[in-house]
Amino acid sequence: MPLDPAILNEMTLAEKIGQLTMVTAGYATTGPIVAGDTTAALKAGRIGSLFNLWGRDAVRAAQRQAVKETRLGIPLFFGLDVIHGFRTIFPIPLAETGAFDIALWERTAMEAAAEAAAEGIDLTFTPMLDIGRDPRWGRIAEGIGEDPLAGARFARAKVQGLQSRDFAGDGRLAACAKHFVAYGAVTAGRDYAPVDISRRTLEEVYLPPFHAAVAAGVASLMPAFTDLDGVPLSANGDMLRGVLRDRWGFEGIVISDYGAIGELIKHGVAGDLAEAAALALNAGVDIDMMAYAYERGLPDALDRGLVAMATLDAAVMRVLRFKEHLGLFDDPYRRCSGSEGETADRRASRRVAAREAGQRSLVLLKNEGGLLPFGGRHRRLAVIGPLADAPAEMLGPWASAGKGADAVSVLAGLHEALPAVDIVHAEGVSIAGEDRAGIAAAVEVARSADGVILCLGEAAAMSGEAASRARIDLPGCQEELFAAVAETGKPLVVLLFSGRPLSAPDVFARAKAVLACWFPGSEAGRAIADVLTGASSPVGRLPVTWPRHVGQVPIYFAARTGGRPENPADKYTSKYLDLPNAPEFPFGHGLGYGDIAFSDLAVDVGERLAISLTASNRGERDDEVVVFLFIRDPVASVARPALELKDFTRLRLAAGESLRLTFTLTRGRLSFLDQRLQPVFEGGDLEILVGPSADRARLLSTTITYR
Ligand code: GLC
Repeated sequence: MPLDPAILNEMTLAEKIGQLTMVTAGYATTGPIVAGDTTAALKAGRIGSLFNLWGRDAVRAAQRQAVKETRLGIPLFFGLDVIHGFRTIFPIPLAETGAFDIALWERTAMEAAAEAAAEGIDLTFTPMLDIGRDPRWGRIAEGIGEDPLAGARFARAKVQGLQSRDFAGDGRLAACAKHFVAYGAVTAGRDYAPVDISRRTLEEVYLPPFHAAVAAGVASLMPAFTDLDGVPLSANGDMLRGVLRDRWGFEGIVISDYGAIGELIKHGVAGDLAEAAALALNAGVDIDMMAYAYERGLPDALDRGLVAMATLDAAVMRVLRFKEHLGLFDDPYRRCSGSEGETADRRASRRVAAREAGQRSLVLLKNEGGLLPFGGRHRRLAVIGPLADAPAEMLGPWASAGKGADAVSVLAGLHEALPAVDIVHAEGVSIAGEDRAGIAAAVEVARSADGVILCLGEAAAMSGEAASRARIDLPGCQEELFAAVAETGKPLVVLLFSGRPLSAPDVFARAKAVLACWFPGSEAGRAIADVLTGASSPVGRLPVTWPRHVGQVPIYFAARTGGRPENPADKYTSKYLDLPNAPEFPFGHGLGYGDIAFSDLAVDVGERLAISLTASNRGERDDEVVVFLFIRDPVASVARPALELKDFTRLRLAAGESLRLTFTLTRGRLSFLDQRLQPVFEGGDLEILVGPSADRARLLSTTITYR
């Protein structure tokens, strides 16, 4: 029986506004802490949904108050940030994007949804689809890297994994694509700072992942805290109604970010809470998360004619229909009845998935002389550094209900993987402290061993929300620890843990091997040991360009060259006096343990372009590789990027195996926005480039003419 809009006639204004009010229940802190007990408001029907609460009993208790003790008995829905896992934590999204593995992206989302739904959660504020090209910005860790095509595929996979065909299904969650839009372009990489970008960049870079999520049927969306060229997203009708609903046909609900509606006053576009509430509701924000702006501002706004009751009713109906779709009117306790949790087997299989996701997100940046994988040659292995025995840090930011005690540290993972090896440990220094007293002892431990693994990087809290860094180098005195250990001359492997690319030129110059681990999640130590010992190959690739220095930022491969592209021999070209333009490592970089080569690029120019090449594994080990397809349009009505990613695929190649693969490009895929920002296919010469990363020197290329 579909919900009858006549229900609105039974609702008081306070009850209508209550359905548009979402309040934190305090199990996790994801924003400015608000004191006070929500029980009275809940019973008065002034709250329509809760977040940051989980567990069947707790959810059931809150739901019973809503259903049994409010006048109309309208059930609540429950939200949570299940960003990269609920209790079983997977690698941070930036790391997982680097797996370039659509099946993996979907699987971890499905696993996370099942685990959270079993604890009474209905909706997750995920996937975070903010393109990140500035590693100073802490939330680059939560996002999808620098490329919109990879980001769009990640978006589709995550919505599919979380929701499947129906987000009300058992083990499924309603997804929430966030933070709409261009949050990653904050000025100076500083969280919450203003965003000024061209409409072209908005359309070509930042909107596509959200469009993909909407096309995949995402149930909800969250506007960013930030403005877009002076118009805060929480009051941006052009984006929330014009693009999202009118152009893309989005029919889901829009949930504000934490307190964002009230912040319209600080943005300087609202004089008081009534104006802020009216701006947001008129722009298309359905639910007010934690600003109490709708509760305290809408009655006044209605009296002052700033907003129409019809607009309010439409928002209320969208929220009620969302609850109806969740099946909450039929059975409000459908996700919180009973007390049986998941079976031990289910939990064990999820840990296996976390270990595999961890393995596949690690990026081998350097491996001089094939130092890795370790054979059984070590008698004694020194495991040194502040992240060697730091299980809680392995979870990274936004670890939801994950517990550090459940995570496997590097040290524990290596002990488990190498029982016959004498493993010795020294912390050396803390992550961010200035105390150097432990360096000498760490050096002695290194001297006593025949191999050294040095675990360096950031704390989990140094990325994620409200965690921008002006410098992106190793915190504290870790560089001194590195230098002292490197002086021993021992074969040195560095494991880097971070939520962003780090500037560490001395490490990259002197360590024989460097593995970017990001934050690998609950199974970190086992996944890392698997790769170090060769039980699995490092198949991760960089989802972002890795700068040498923060002074190069923003740095990304799909930049236009300008009229004076870098020429070291010509002073008057676009370059620095003190650094090359080239990054430390390019987008897509990552080494494996095989020896994969690409050859025989051929393009068949017909109705479509058929682009073929051969990939060969000349090594002794099976391996996997990601093959990227780029184009460069040398002459067009608009200056085009130096490289544009048009496709990628992941290949498994047995030792000695060769494979012929083909990409297809249509005129539609080669269209771009003309000077009036209208899609156009112009034809003409086109450079086709294929290979393992955005490093032009490693790409096969040819130029064809296509009309
Ligand atoms: C936070 C974040 C957002 C999150 C929300 C609820 O401030 O910006 O990503 O989903 O609040 O926790």
